[in-house]
Amino acid sequence: MGTAVVTGAGQGLGRAIAERLAADGHHIVAVDLNPETAADTAASLGGQWRQCDVSDPGSVAALAESLDRVEVLVNNAGIWIFADMADMAPDDVRRVLEVNVMGVFYCTQALVPLMGPGSSIVNLSSNAAYSNSPGVGIYPPSKAAVESFTKQTALEFGRRGIRANAVGPGMILTEGTRVNYEGEMGRQRARAVPLGRNGHPEDVADVVGFLASDDARYVTGQIIYVDGGLSAGRAAL
Ligand SMILES: NC(=O)c1ccc[n+]([C@@H]2O[C@H](COP(=O)([O-])OP(=O)(O)OC[C@H]3O[C@@H](n4cnc5c(N)ncnc54)[C@H](O)[C@@H]3O)[C@@H](O)[C@H]2O)c1
Repeated sequence: MGTAVVTGAGQGLGRAIAERLAADGHHIVAVDLNPETAADTAASLGGQWRQCDVSDPGSVAALAESLDRVEVLVNNAGIWIFADMADMAPDDVRRVLEVNVMGVFYCTQALVPLMGPGSSIVNLSSNAAYSNSPGVGIYPPSKAAVESFTKQTALEFGRRGIRANAVGPGMILTEGTRVNYEGEMGRQRARAVPLGRNGHPEDVADVVGFLASDDARYVTGQIIYVDGGLSAGRAAL
């Protein structure tokens, strides 16, 4: 097992993914915009941390320069802004696209030169890329771009033995989604989920662990929805 770089590792899905990859024997580099939470994740896992803004190519270049070899890259950092697309200010649209799309691009381009055969990239999409929902404006299109970018990465780097896949979480309770998925609102939303509950960060982290592992050695260019079945359809209420 080698080094696993996880962006947005300070909390939520990124932290759970870092924990799973550490349990699998990887040395973790926890990357986050927030240095305190990144340091906390790293300290709990005996890993390293880096403060980095994935939407800033200079910041990502500094991250890459500080690393030697990378076996696993998880492009997890992502943001959303609650607004209908028609009401979004251009700066807000730009910010979401810069983090969710350009961030994946910058990190992949900068870190692939440090990766060799057997390495794995896992991008965080969303089931919103498959099934749009109102009120989150440019977020679903940004994740659709992540899915296409994942396939492009798989094609361009397959001959180097580097795999690229994406996971598309459904409704997972994290620090970032708490406002929507906690309490009665969360219970109401869970009724639509075929498996009858919202997800835990570990539900997603375990699939990322699989995709990062040699068990997935012949899997590349794939999108796996980890959404309790929501992308198959909504449960009868
Ligand atoms: N939680 C869900 O239900 C859900 C569903 C679908 C997709 N996702 C995706 O999973 C990923 C993680 O979601 P989450 O719920 O854990 O979010 P979260 O808000 O709880 O955590 C996101 C982390 O990313 C970091 N971050 C934000 N912008 C950054 C930047 N520019 N550079 C570096 N780090 C940055 C934040 O500081 C934070 O630590 C996101 O890409 C999100 O779109 C989440």
